[in-house]
Amino acid sequence: MSNSNIAVAIDGPAASGKSTVAKTLAKRLGLIMVNTGAMYRAVAWATIQHGVDPADSAAVINLLDRVDFTCGVENNLSTVLVDGVDLGDALRQDAVNSRVSKVAAISEVRELLVSMQRDYLELGSVVMEGRDIGSVVFPNTPFKMYIDASEEVRRKRRAAEGIIDDPTARDKEDSKRKSSPLVIAEGAVVIDSSEMDVEQVVQAALTVLRERGASE
Ligand code: DC
Repeated sequence: MSNSNIAVAIDGPAASGKSTVAKTLAKRLGLIMVNTGAMYRAVAWATIQHGVDPADSAAVINLLDRVDFTCGVENNLSTVLVDGVDLGDALRQDAVNSRVSKVAAISEVRELLVSMQRDYLELGSVVMEGRDIGSVVFPNTPFKMYIDASEEVRRKRRAAEGIIDDPTARDKEDSKRKSSPLVIAEGAVVIDSSEMDVEQVVQAALTVLRERGASE
């Protein structure tokens, strides 16, 4: 890592509860919370806006040159702007859900976004959540967790959020892709959140950080 800032890497499948845990953890420790899924969603959103087939890698790569993706921080939370616009909840729409795994499988998309993700460490210490944070973005950080939950619990959590999404179908695509698939990173502590509430998962994560030498 380029400075004394630390990176807490939180990976896991969709609807495992990792975003809520990452947010709570970051708030409690005063760190920047970076939601990397939003960046892949921003690219998927741009394909809709520009009528590009998300499975056509050449067209998606071309789009990366034509659209401006800017990452920032607001109130200690990461933001992503597409041509200057913060898309907010539009990034969680069904059409984005069904396209995002396709654009996330393109290595050029990943290279661009991973480099933007690493840049966050220049701004401060981060809690970063995604699929490849411990394996690819910050492989050298000792602070790695993989938050899991059963398929049934994940489906229920998504339904409770009122989101039309099949998290397990996306996970299958995300796990089988060639470029940085969803994996349990080497050295990551697996936390199964199926039977836990948010506070219990946060406490488990804080224990991992303490045991691995993070000072609060
Ligand atoms: O965390 P999320 O559900 O918002 O992520 C949306 C999609 O983005 C997910 O299906 C896979 C992809 N993604 C990824 O490939 N790598 C990351 N670090 C984060 C998300």
